[in-house]
Amino acid sequence: MTTALVVRIDNNVVGRLWLDERKNFCFSYDSTWLERFRIPLSLSLPLRTEPYLDDQSHSFFANLLPEEKMRTLIARNLGVSFNNDYGLLERIGGDCAGAVSLHPETEETLPQSASYRALSLDELNTIIKELPQRPLLAGEKGLRLSLAGAQKKLPIYYDGQQYHLGYGTAPSNYIIKPAIDDLPGTVENEAYCMALARAVGLNVPPSFIHQHEDLQVFVVKRFDREVAGDAIRRLHQEDFCQALNVPPEFKYETEGGPSLSACFNLLRANSTSSGKDVLSLVNWVLFNYLIGNSDSHGKNISLLLLSEGPRLAPFYDLLSTRVYAPYGLAEGLAMKIGGESDPHAIRRKHWELFAEEVGIKPKLVLTRLKDLSQRIVTARLPLFKGEFEQFRCDTLYRLMELIAGQCADSIKQIA
Ligand SMILES: Nc1ncnc2c1ncn2[C@@H]1O[C@H](COP(=O)(O)OP(=O)(O)O)[C@@H](O)[C@H]1O
Ligand SMILES: [Mg+2]
Repeated sequence: MTTALVVRIDNNVVGRLWLDERKNFCFSYDSTWLERFRIPLSLSLPLRTEPYLDDQSHSFFANLLPEEKMRTLIARNLGVSFNNDYGLLERIGGDCAGAVSLHPETEETLPQSASYRALSLDELNTIIKELPQRPLLAGEKGLRLSLAGAQKKLPIYYDGQQYHLGYGTAPSNYIIKPAIDDLPGTVENEAYCMALARAVGLNVPPSFIHQHEDLQVFVVKRFDREVAGDAIRRLHQEDFCQALNVPPEFKYETEGGPSLSACFNLLRANSTSSGKDVLSLVNWVLFNYLIGNSDSHGKNISLLLLSEGPRLAPFYDLLSTRVYAPYGLAEGLAMKIGGESDPHAIRRKHWELFAEEVGIKPKLVLTRLKDLSQRIVTARLPLFKGEFEQFRCDTLYRLMELIAGQCADSIKQIA
């Protein structure tokens, strides 16, 4: 008999997750949470007293876990079966994306201690270099970190000068993403695309490249944290797969994952500032197209579930995947644009169709595409020659060319 897991949001009990006798997930909200807090764990799990069975609850929790190679390694390190979502949540669900934590019910109270251990830059390099063997430091005493995504990463506390590992309930406030093996220049690529997004007015968290000796990593500030006096508060977030009850293994539209119209409908129906958020989401679609990011699936876009209601979260995981076509990376779009999944085939008519599908005036989408292309054309080189001068590499040169081509082509299509 497995023990139930207590589900908390920022240390308040939301409910319980358990396995029934057939090993299916069951989740039930706590009565105090229903009375006092009134934030749903997920838009796919509206507040109610009856328990949710596997078909409605499993996806939300499965989407909290790391994916692919990371998952394999963590499962192996912890001695948990690869397919055992519940077992993995039990072991690493202590600090998930946003504010969610899961702890076995038998642990009477949460670990009350919160402490940080400052790391020297050499120590940080050692930890980062060990991540391929020990993703998210799984197995390290006092650490139970889980972040979705397929790539190596490390949640960290950064005070502007020094990096620290957080123990117990101590929250991280940044995420470190090391280079992806087998694909050159991913750190420079992501840092440049995020900086470009900021330069053209998209809502992205601050990010930078940290370099020490032979190691370069991408560092991004967490948008699911809020400074409250001396403390850091965790903000609840969920990705679009969670909100739409889609399991992580079906995140691509071709597999049955979220389409752009499903994302827009979700946002329109739930955001407390839907007009503004819908336009931001249009910008996200256009920007990903213009930088050649084909991997913008339903787990790479999130909502913040705040006490005031849901809002579109700032953007993350923006990097050009199409620069890696020579390395065999799939070029097909994670979500079709106007029914087309081949980015080379996108024309004006696809944007018009996209606009209709997501309930926006075609003229607005075309004007935005042209405007964003022009802003990118203006910002592209100064950024490359400015703060990215020291990080120039083959990938960035190819990226500059790809972006210039995409923008010129889009401007021409619309003229
Ligand atoms: N800046 C951020 N603030 C808060 N959460 C983030 C941030 N960046 C990423 N995340 C969370 O971590 C998960 C994995 O990050 P992502 O950059 O998508 O990694 P990967 O490249 O492995 O897909 C995201 O799905 C999101 O939930
Ligand atoms: Mg991702």
